[in-house]
Amino acid sequence: MKRIVITCAAAAALATSLFAVAHGNVTPQGVDTTGLPVLGEKWREENPYKGNQLALKIGTSAYNQNCARCHGLEAVSGGIAPDLRLLDRDCVGMRNEAKKKACYKEIDAYFLTSIRHGKVRNGAVYMPPFEGVFNQEAMWAIKTYLETRRASE
Ligand code: HEC
Repeated sequence: MKRIVITCAAAAALATSLFAVAHGNVTPQGVDTTGLPVLGEKWREENPYKGNQLALKIGTSAYNQNCARCHGLEAVSGGIAPDLRLLDRDCVGMRNEAKKKACYKEIDAYFLTSIRHGKVRNGAVYMPPFEGVFNQEAMWAIKTYLETRRASE
């Protein structure tokens, strides 16, 4: 039997205390991506919405409803799940533009894999998969939000 191990920092009022959330108690929130360029079936390798203001708005809300309970409010991790401001920290300081671009692309691909499939090791679910819960548009909208939270080196 698969075991679900989900321990997250609680939102807002409970920000300082930790609690365990049992599987089934947490319903992932659907994300309305109306107005964003439609991406279709094929998975993109890179964020197609970089800098898109509507994507940022949708992504901010989607992050707060679906990711913040584990990854922290405003992507500042409480220590349980990785701090997503640091996701592309290795790319930020790169001087060579071509290498930097390739680095960001690699991170985009890693982000998409992480969010689509979640993080499951040895039958334990550290992060649930979001494929089938969100469409691709919502996933990249969240990435667009995270890019505004990026640590500056
Ligand atoms: C139930 C808690 C939980 C939720 C909800 C959750 N995550 Fe995670 N996430 C984790 C944990 C824990 C890890 C680290 C897993 C590991 O150790 O392999 C992780 C890893 C990641 C990673 C890889 C980070 C890295 O530095 O390697 C990304 C990207 C990510 N999550 C994005 C998201 C996004 C986006 C959402 C919201 C759609 C989300 N997560 C929702 C718990 C969660």
